[in-house]
Amino acid sequence: MPKTFRCHLFWCGHERDDDAKASCAKRGSWDIGTQLKKAMRERGLRDEVAVTKSGCLGQCSVGPAMIVYPEGVWYSVPTLEDALEILDKHLANGEIVERLVIKD
Ligand code: FES
Repeated sequence: MPKTFRCHLFWCGHERDDDAKASCAKRGSWDIGTQLKKAMRERGLRDEVAVTKSGCLGQCSVGPAMIVYPEGVWYSVPTLEDALEILDKHLANGEIVERLVIKD
């Protein structure tokens, strides 16, 4: 049986060749996402939280974009510090970081 997690974050690692529509990778998502995963492991959350790279999440204009399940909360995460705040508050403690939530 596949392993399940209490919380699963997907970060967009998509990169476009053209500049017509900015992509998360061009805004630094790879560094943020890989450092976030490393920090998650260092905090001992590996057995309950998953951090996974994804393709385009359809939120390109406000990327780097992330989504956290099971709540389905969308985040715009411009810096590593913002990602670490999501890790410490939302992933570790279930507290949504409202200031980074992508609104309709
Ligand atoms: S390129 Fe990241 S959401 Fe589209």
